[in-house]
Amino acid sequence: MTAPYYITTPIYYVNDKPHIGHAYTTIACDVLARFKRLDGYEVKFLSGTDEHGQKVAKAAADNDLDPIELCDKNSNNFRELLATLNISNDDFIRTTEQRHKSACQALWRKLSDKGHIYMGKYSGWYAVRDEAYYDEAELTQSPSGDHLAPTGAVVEWMEEETYFFDLSKWQDKLLAFYDSNPDFIGPQSRFNEVYSFVKGGLKDISISRATFSWGIPVPGETKHVMYVWIDALTNYLTALGYPTLKDDYAKFWPVCHHMVGKDIIRFHCVYWPAFLMAANLMPPKKVYAHGWWTVEGQKMSKSLGNAIDPNHMVAEYGLDQMRFFLMREVPFGNDGDFSEAAISRRINGELANELGNLAQRVLSFIAKNLDGVLPEARDLTTEDKDLLNSCHSLVVLCRESMDRQAFHEVIESIWSVVRMANVYVDMQAPWVLKKTNIRRMETVLYILVEATRHIAILMQPFTPQAMSILLDQLSVPDDDRMFTSLGEGSALKSGIKLPVPHGVFPRYIAKSEERTR
Ligand code: MSP
Repeated sequence: MTAPYYITTPIYYVNDKPHIGHAYTTIACDVLARFKRLDGYEVKFLSGTDEHGQKVAKAAADNDLDPIELCDKNSNNFRELLATLNISNDDFIRTTEQRHKSACQALWRKLSDKGHIYMGKYSGWYAVRDEAYYDEAELTQSPSGDHLAPTGAVVEWMEEETYFFDLSKWQDKLLAFYDSNPDFIGPQSRFNEVYSFVKGGLKDISISRATFSWGIPVPGETKHVMYVWIDALTNYLTALGYPTLKDDYAKFWPVCHHMVGKDIIRFHCVYWPAFLMAANLMPPKKVYAHGWWTVEGQKMSKSLGNAIDPNHMVAEYGLDQMRFFLMREVPFGNDGDFSEAAISRRINGELANELGNLAQRVLSFIAKNLDGVLPEARDLTTEDKDLLNSCHSLVVLCRESMDRQAFHEVIESIWSVVRMANVYVDMQAPWVLKKTNIRRMETVLYILVEATRHIAILMQPFTPQAMSILLDQLSVPDDDRMFTSLGEGSALKSGIKLPVPHGVFPRYIAKSEERTR
């Protein structure tokens, strides 16, 4: 039986245009989903848009639109972005869909029936930008006198009658859950952060709003809509058919993995497991929080107008080049800085010079000197065996790093073989062997093709389009591109004809350089 795997992106607020930060989470999930599929898992991969709440209502009003008009338009931007980024999601959820409304109301009823919801009066600080409540102790003051949340969002004092969830009762159960599931939150630093937050004590949270109506109505209520986060988090269950707990729920919920940015960890690691436990459901298996991107050293902001549009990035650098850069540049979990210098270094230094050049050198040499026919490998030397052994053991290393969401380590392991293969070409010098020892030249070329095959199969999750072209150039049949085809068992047969090769990773020439040429 194939093992299931469920991976989710956060659902994106539709008040904003997609930027590099949204692309980052989504690409990371796509890499995981593709890796797991290639490794034989049955994957369900969910993304979507978060369409209710005060922030979206305000954005619609600012644009003289009905909220749903704004949602339809902007949700589509995110859906299109997924296509542009070659994302392999199986479902796209919108929180304004009927299936979601039913799921949220069912969850609410369950919490209410079990006595976890009560009516009370809320007074405290709320940040519309974050759609989050903050404690007074967490706030700072801006030079203009505004109160600011730790995220920099302006908070306002709110007083209203709302429904509450009895979060304070869940402190011990949450701590016990973290203790018995030390891998629940990654990386470790975020685990510690959440743990000490919960240890510090929890207050009941307000989960409804009556001052605006753009939300899912609280069942049996005319005035209150649900707090946007209880609505948003439930999307992960809606997509599995909740409240009818059928096959998808039984199969995928126990292996659910949420990928989120570091700013929304409290919602996913504290509120969400508490809601679920209160409804007698299992918390998700894992939440991984990644870092944030700045641009040329600066925080992205509307006022600076420096948010990077992923569509422009794709047009400028190429899709696979951008995907590679985002997964390669910083250890996943840390913050990163996007700059033109950094991405062109990665494209030219690694994709073009190291991987692209390796493949092109080997394949064009075979095309020119052997009429494109894959030669035979005979009498392997220690160097040949070393390179092949490194290829054969690569998947184990990659799997281990991928299970810790250490994307940069996966690429680093693959790259150690790319570099090893480049050293091997230089040392074996097939262009010299061509004049001195054809038999040996053939062996060297065969070994290099096998090394390239391993690299291309393992790089598919990161740079799927380029690797599909490269695997075509290696004449690897579609059915032999899964990880089960790594190793000697599915090695290419000598005597096959390889198509005429062409480079897969061109060098990037910056616009500024182009002008000075
Ligand atoms: N709607 C909520 C999520 C609900 S999930 C049940 C939300 N949406 S968001 O559109 O504001 O953010 C979506 C994701 O983008 C978050 O994971 C956030 O961390 C990520 N990023 C936003 N800006 C970012 C960067 N500058 N860098 C990296 N990721 C960033 O929060």
